[in-house]
Amino acid sequence: MGKATIGIGLVGSGFMGRCHANAFRAVGGLFDLPVAPALTILADATPDLAERGAAALGFDRATGDWQALVDDPAVDIVAITAPNLLHAPIAQAAIAAGKTVYCEKPLSTTAALAEQMMQAAEAAGVVTLVGFNFLRNPMIRLARDIITSGEIGAVTGFRGRHAENYMANPEVPHSFRTDPAGGGALADIGSHIVSMARYLLGPVAQVQADCVTVVPDRPIRPGGTERAPVLVDDMTHALMRFDSGVLGSLEANWAATARTMDLSWEITGTRGALAFSQERMNDLLLHSGAPGRSGYTRIEAGPAHPPYGQFCPAPGHHLGFNDLKVIEVAELLNAHAGGPACGPDFREAWEVQKVIEAMQRSARDRTWVAP
Ligand SMILES: NC(=O)c1ccc[n+]([C@@H]2O[C@H](COP(=O)([O-])OP(=O)(O)OC[C@H]3O[C@@H](n4cnc5c(N)ncnc54)[C@H](O)[C@@H]3O)[C@@H](O)[C@H]2O)c1
Repeated sequence: MGKATIGIGLVGSGFMGRCHANAFRAVGGLFDLPVAPALTILADATPDLAERGAAALGFDRATGDWQALVDDPAVDIVAITAPNLLHAPIAQAAIAAGKTVYCEKPLSTTAALAEQMMQAAEAAGVVTLVGFNFLRNPMIRLARDIITSGEIGAVTGFRGRHAENYMANPEVPHSFRTDPAGGGALADIGSHIVSMARYLLGPVAQVQADCVTVVPDRPIRPGGTERAPVLVDDMTHALMRFDSGVLGSLEANWAATARTMDLSWEITGTRGALAFSQERMNDLLLHSGAPGRSGYTRIEAGPAHPPYGQFCPAPGHHLGFNDLKVIEVAELLNAHAGGPACGPDFREAWEVQKVIEAMQRSARDRTWVAP
């Protein structure tokens, strides 16, 4: 008997839309899944954009109306890669239709909206997953295993950073990323390092942050001469106290000249330490604390670190960014088919959003804030 076909409805065909489509196309050849995804409908902002996106990404049908995609009985999973402001209405409609929802980060534009989305999803009992794909890296899972095993002793400190340069140039125009309703470096990429901090070290009890805008204005449209002020943060620095009592610090920075993907952190323990940067995502650095072994030793990703072996039987051949999305989609499809629950779900993404908002509030009120 053949596997059940699961209809995928994808909203958006930009950077992340391509990445989701690639993952749904590739996953069946790499993972042994109980179901087979079918690229059923692509929705975009206009029928023309949708037609072009569907042809390029391999979808059967196209629509300029995301509600029609959500309502279509052939769609089982709604994948949302549209701008942040659209996450809530599309997800709420998909939940109301009883569909599995796979939503890009940040879950929404405010913690209050994210909470409503989480409550609706839990009341409806639908599977949800939010695209914090960097957590899918086998080296990040290894880091968590090393921490929980006690190999580096008791954790004593965390320093995290997500720094990229894609907004460093003042000629990069405004977009949904600079929309004061939910935009900014902290929401856009700070959400990744906050989700990773929670994944590795648990809940955050209190934060104190400061935010700055380093590019005062940008073109309203690509290539245009008319400019408008930037009303969101380009850079945020924060202190954070974890529930465990561990003190940490964090930077979110999208104007970090020279940095392309420095989602990085260092965690110190009483006996050892760990360090990682997504710019070298196949390496985890471990300091064992053994006598005569000062400094870090590089652990290279390989089949010993699941699910690396699904992609390649040899170490040192390297996974890439798109592979993390394939792993994410494999977990989503398994959960959709009744297998193990996958995460981060809407509840966890709401927790991340509360930390982000606490940092924004702290910067405004110049005080420590509990998420
Ligand atoms: N997980 C990650 O690593 C990661 C990386 C980049 C972006 N993202 C997230 O993915 C989302 C999209 O970002 P992107 O970089 O792909 O943006 P993008 O601008 O490249 O793509 C957005 C897409 O949504 C479409 N769209 C706009 N309005 C629409 C509407 N009304 N109906 C349907 N489609 C509409 C656009 O036409 C475009 O195809 C954001 O929420 C962003 O935060 C996540």
